[in-house]
Amino acid sequence: MTLLSVDDITVSYGRLTALRGVTLTIDEGEVLFVTGPNGAGKSTLLNAIAGVVLVGSGSIMIDGAKVTGNSPEDIARRGFSLVPEGRNVFGGLTIEENLKVGTGMRIDRKKIADDLESIYEEFPMLAERRHTPAGMLSGGQQQMLVIGRALMAAPRIMAIDEPSLGLAPKIIDQVYEILVRLRTQRKLTLLIVEQSSTRAMMTGGRMVLIRGGRIVLEGAATEMVKDDRLKHAYFGFGDH
Ligand SMILES: Nc1ncnc2c1ncn2[C@@H]1O[C@H](COP(=O)(O)OP(=O)(O)O)[C@@H](O)[C@H]1O
Ligand SMILES: [Mg+2]
Repeated sequence: MTLLSVDDITVSYGRLTALRGVTLTIDEGEVLFVTGPNGAGKSTLLNAIAGVVLVGSGSIMIDGAKVTGNSPEDIARRGFSLVPEGRNVFGGLTIEENLKVGTGMRIDRKKIADDLESIYEEFPMLAERRHTPAGMLSGGQQQMLVIGRALMAAPRIMAIDEPSLGLAPKIIDQVYEILVRLRTQRKLTLLIVEQSSTRAMMTGGRMVLIRGGRIVLEGAATEMVKDDRLKHAYFGFGDH
């Protein structure tokens, strides 16, 4: 079943067109990797789906309902949760306060406590340090925290923008172990922006390559990394 579909969207920032006619679909339970060089439009794609940046033309549907132009809050309520680039935690707030950001409007206090407990079960490291200011955490721990925070919304699709940026390989492994586990245990559908194609290959799933605001290549991640076309398309060799 198609959970998310993006149909021929265009996004501009003033005179700069960042996405040009991007079309993709994600099935329930699938992992889709988005890769491509800096400035390709990867973050813009995620932000457009999340309703954070406005789509100029085309349409976006979640679970069969058109959400183009809807507010980020509405899109989150429909099950799309975005972990933005840059691991923005509130450094002066504790881990627990960070996890609760965004739940202020909810009236189901009991459910919030349950959600918090389930996140602590999944991330014992966060539980142990629940009263520690988030600013004291390492980059890897902060990445776990922002993933945990996104899970507080009980999403069906989680989009993560460059989770491994600036982290040591061992820590990246841990982040991916968690993502793989969340996918199975919570039946999460994942949309991951990742520069490292080996991660995509190890995790399986499909991959699209964006360059200059367009999808220039797509296929099974395992096939694409073997393929010289990936390297060529990435760096733009052989086309004009
Ligand atoms: N808020 C913004 N205002 C103006 N231009 C932007 C903004 N965000 C991104 N851009 C531009 O849009 C293009 C795509 O950026 P982005 O989606 O961040 O690429 P990526 O995530 O692939 O590195 C780039 O040329 C970038 O400079
Ligand atoms: Mg980006």
